[in-house]
Amino acid sequence: MNWGPIDRYAKSLIKEAGHHIRHSFFTGIEVSAKSSENDLVTNIDKEIEQFFIRRIRQNFPDHRVMGEEGFGDTVETLEGVVWFLDPIDGTMNFIHQKRNFAISLGIYLDGVGVLGYVYDVMAGDLYSAEKGEGAYLNDIRLLPLKETAVEESVIGVNASWVAPNRYAEHEPMIELVNRCRGTRSYGSAALELTHVAAGRIDAYLSMRLSPWDVAGGMVIANEVGAVATTMDGSALSLLGQETFVVANPGLHRQLLGEFIRLKK
Ligand code: IPD
Ligand code: CA
Ligand code: CA
Repeated sequence: MNWGPIDRYAKSLIKEAGHHIRHSFFTGIEVSAKSSENDLVTNIDKEIEQFFIRRIRQNFPDHRVMGEEGFGDTVETLEGVVWFLDPIDGTMNFIHQKRNFAISLGIYLDGVGVLGYVYDVMAGDLYSAEKGEGAYLNDIRLLPLKETAVEESVIGVNASWVAPNRYAEHEPMIELVNRCRGTRSYGSAALELTHVAAGRIDAYLSMRLSPWDVAGGMVIANEVGAVATTMDGSALSLLGQETFVVANPGLHRQLLGEFIRLKK
């Protein structure tokens, strides 16, 4: 398949959507709650997802779309071309900070990531990658990752995983936080993946992410040599919520071997 035209089209959709999101700060945003009062969605999340889906269906009627807000297809298997879309990753940041959120898009063929995009809307930074062709921040090629031991690593981890939780033992997480050089938490899984890919943090881990959170960023991270798996070391299914860890290969091994103990 010739991915060039799809790549160019995806980038143009992302830029147009980013423009619309920036403009929304002048027109007003309606916020509502989804599964809980801290699980927020806005009219803009929904409008942006509908915008992408309309355009994708017009131009690529045989492609399927899995989108967070539910306007896409019900995707139960990954054959053919599937677009994984998170119209706004980091909705809480979008609402509270008006920055630090991203459009995340991954385009997969038969379950293999071919094109990946994460657009930091307010910074105007587009991270992109095509499988086998390297990863870019705008026009600048990202360098291959360096190996880091835990003691010299900055780890992207949310504070809630250091408290008792139902997914993983928290004591080894406390040990990790104590032994690493520092921790960071940005509130957007897609942006955290790009921070790993750009070498700003050395790992990112989370107990529960959805396919649209990671599909785009994984294509980018893979191109600089990062390893991304579930916390038991398996490939992601990209069909439901899963645990997630991404890092340079040595650190990824060390995190799985010494610090991550999943509860049964
Ligand atoms: C969320 C963000 C957040 C992560 C959550 C995601 P949303 O996505 O990526 O950083 O911790 O698990 O659900 O809801 O802002 O699109
Ligand atoms: Ca998300
Ligand atoms: Ca979202």
